[in-house]
This record gives sequence, structure tokens and C-alpha cells, in this order.
Amino acid sequence: AAMPDQESRFRASVAAIGSTPTGPRRPAEPARIGDTFANTPDSDPALAEHREWATRAVAQPMPELTSRHLDVLADVEEVVATGRAAHAGWAARPAAERAGVLRDAARELDSRRQALVSVMAAEGGKTIVESDPEISEAVDFARYYADRALELEDGPMTDGASFAPFALTLITPPWNFPVAIPIGGVLAALAAGSAVIIKPAPQTPACVEEAVAALHAAGVPTDVLQVVRTEEDEVGRRLVSHEDVEAVVLTGASETARLFAGWRAGRPEGARVLGETSGKNALVITPSADIDLAVADLVSSAFGHAGQKCSAASLGILVGSIAESPRFRRQLVDAASSIVVGWPSDLGTRMGPVIEPPSGKLLRALTTLEPGESWLVEPRQLDDTGRLWSPGVKEGVAPGSFFHLTEVFGPVLGLIRADSLEQAIELQNATDFGLTGGLHSLDESEIQQWTGAVAVGNGYVNRHITGAIVQRQSFGGWKSSSIGPGAKAGGPNYVAQLGTWGADGLPT
Ligand code: ALA
Repeated sequence: AAMPDQESRFRASVAAIGSTPTGPRRPAEPARIGDTFANTPDSDPALAEHREWATRAVAQPMPELTSRHLDVLADVEEVVATGRAAHAGWAARPAAERAGVLRDAARELDSRRQALVSVMAAEGGKTIVESDPEISEAVDFARYYADRALELEDGPMTDGASFAPFALTLITPPWNFPVAIPIGGVLAALAAGSAVIIKPAPQTPACVEEAVAALHAAGVPTDVLQVVRTEEDEVGRRLVSHEDVEAVVLTGASETARLFAGWRAGRPEGARVLGETSGKNALVITPSADIDLAVADLVSSAFGHAGQKCSAASLGILVGSIAESPRFRRQLVDAASSIVVGWPSDLGTRMGPVIEPPSGKLLRALTTLEPGESWLVEPRQLDDTGRLWSPGVKEGVAPGSFFHLTEVFGPVLGLIRADSLEQAIELQNATDFGLTGGLHSLDESEIQQWTGAVAVGNGYVNRHITGAIVQRQSFGGWKSSSIGPGAKAGGPNYVAQLGTWGADGLPT
């Protein structure tokens, strides 16, 4: 059977898995280490132990980089040849054996949690509140993709169809999720039976090296999984466009996706470039919403990792009287302005630095008011590094304006007013992107209206809009938020798209 078209696939996934149950209070989520260690009484031994663990984590020095550095074009030929030669042996192993290696990788990643947290803080500026669950996500990917490997070899999916993995897959991940996204891509390709080259984002190579070391320790051969670095544009371009690299899995900006796709033009869609790209995401809040929950979810979605998530809420779309509600406004101001900003080495930090001093679109968003806009909470630069900014909230964002339509990737939230839910959805769908989106409403008919019309890959009802959970909320977008066949990470078709299918094409 052919893949269903993108719209119907995403429509189905929004309805089926993108929401949590509605109601005035969602069930408590299990505590995570990062949520519990800071600001806790010393008298509680369990919490004191967490804090000691975290203190040791953030005090560790950065490891030296050890991965292969590609200096000249000939280096590319070498690593590509190594990967291709290694592929046959890996693909020939029974799926049960490959799945076993992935399960061991899950255990290795989990057991290296402290070292991973440490390097994510030092190199990526990530607070433990954010990095600890990210490691859990990498562990989840390993277990989930292990199961998909078994299914691919001997399951309903492959009934009568023949799957051949790509021989060599290149993973080009971003710096903002410096462990889960790189390692998720690697694990999926390994589950399919492909050899892998990963080129970390230049900002976070040590995070990838540390995580890849866990996979090597679990038994992934070093020629099946290679880490390479380069600063040379020509060398990077050669790697991405290489005819013996069968697919490139990209998570990054839409512009990068277009660039890579141009370099790889002429190949079949599935082998060209596949992945997840930019977003401009909104959380819609109606007058029926539980204001406490809505504010908490808006603020955590906007300012988690200083807003540097493709999934972040950059817009709050306020329907009707919510925009004037004194309680909503006061709670939003209090919540945003009380966030403790600092470096991850300080365990009280709730929002860390931006990856580099803001420039371009982010600087404009932080320092400029467009016509109609005013600051509800004005962002401030907090130190000389230029990387620490307090959160900003601007209201009066005009439909069709720069801030309505542009991804800025930093700690600024814009508020737009809408007269009706219908208009709110129009504003939400008006961008080029369609990655995440949310609705806070306790009205069942509003929820149905929104769910049926919102054009996002991951739509959430009465929940924050970041932090998709593997298998439960597989992650990916549509429109300019996606490139390639569009199967979602941590979802059923993700591994299956990393190869070629017989005459029938990809399974549904
Ligand atoms: N998967 C990440 C999230 O959902 C990007 O926030």
C-alpha cells in the first residue's frame, strides 16, 4: 500500500496521539530528577542525594574531542568507504541481535546519565531540568526502535513486502537537543540495518561523542557508526551530497533543508533529505481555559531551554476576554518574570543561556517593538557574555507581522488577540510552518473544532507543547516544518522509511 498523503497522516496523528485528557487537572507526572533536586531541604536524604549527584555533574570538566576531523575531500571518501564496507555485516545480523545491541545501548545511555548531563551543561548550556529528561528520551528511542527492528524483519508491516535498508545514512543533528535528536536518528538508522555517519552540530560535538561512546560500548561497531567533524564548507558539502550516502537525516532550519535538498537533487524523495525543520508554534487559550494550567504551560513551552526548541511556543493566541483578564495577565507576568535565569552550573537556574549572543531575527525580536506591540515583560541582557537574557513577553503582535510569522528561536513570547476560536486557528495556521501547536480549553466542542482544523504535526490539548514523548506523541511537522516522506520520530514508520521497499512502496 502507498503512504497516505501528508495531510491525512498528520490529521490522524493529531487526533489519535497528540492530546492528553481534558479536565481541570491533569494527572501528576512522575517526578524527574531535574524537577526535584534544586532548592530542596537538606533534611530530606533522597533529595539531598539528588542534589549532590547534580552538583557533581555540573562540576565536571569538558572532555577533549576525539572524533575524526575531516580536513580535505579525500577524508570524506575514506569515511564513506568505511561506512559502506561495514554495512553488509551489520545488516546481515538477525534483527533480534541488532535489537539486543539497541537495548544494551539504552542501558549504557542510562548509566552514563551524569557524564551526559555534565557535557550538555558545559557545552550546550542546558540546565539539568532540561537535560535529564532528554537522556530519558534517548533511552526511550533505543528501546522503541529496537522493537521496530524486530517488526521490520518479521511483522505485519513486512507482510509480502521486501525492505532493504539504506547502506549508509548521514545524520546531521542540531545543537538544541544535543543528545536525544542525534542519538534518535542514529538508533533509527541502526535499527533499519544501515551504517551511519553522524556529523554533530559544530556547537555540541562533545555531547554527541559522549552519547556515541555509549553506543559503541553497547556493541555497535566503530565502523558501523562513525562521528566526524569539519569546519570546511566544501568538505561538509561533499559529505552531504555524496552519491554513496543514501540518505541524509536532517533536524535543523528549513533553509538548511532546502540547501541540502538542492545538493541532493535528482534522487528519489526518500533518499534525498528527510527530517524535521523549523517551527513557529502557537498555544491558543480560550475563555473556558483553566488559567493556572494555561499560564504554566504557555510559560514552560515558551521559555524551556530559553525558547531554543523547534517545538517552543513562540505565540500565545488569546481568544476573546482572555486577553483582558486581569488574572491571566498578572499570572503571566509573574510566571515569566520570576524565572531564575543563569548558567546551568547553578542548580537554582530554571532558564539557561542562549547558544550565542543574539543576532539577526532573535536580536530583532528581543530589542525591537514592531507597530502595535508593547512589552508586557521586557527582556533584559543580564551579563557581558551577551548570552543571558531574561524572558520577554510582547503583546499586540499584529497578524501578518514579522513576529507572527518568523521563527526567532529564543526567549521571547508574543501575544496575539483573536475574536473567535475560528480566527485563532486561522492565525495559528497562517505561518509557513506546522510543527507543534496547543489549545487550552475546557469546552469539548472547542476542542473538537480545534483538533479538526489545526495544521500541525503535534497538536496538544491542555498540555505544554514541547517535550513529545516517544511512541505516545511521535514527533514531526508538515508544511515547511518537514522534509522528505515525513514519518515522525519516535513513531511507527520512522525506521521503515530508512530504506527502500519493493514495488509496493512504504507501508502505511
Ligand atoms: N521533540 C522535541 C519536543 O517535542 C523537539 O520538544
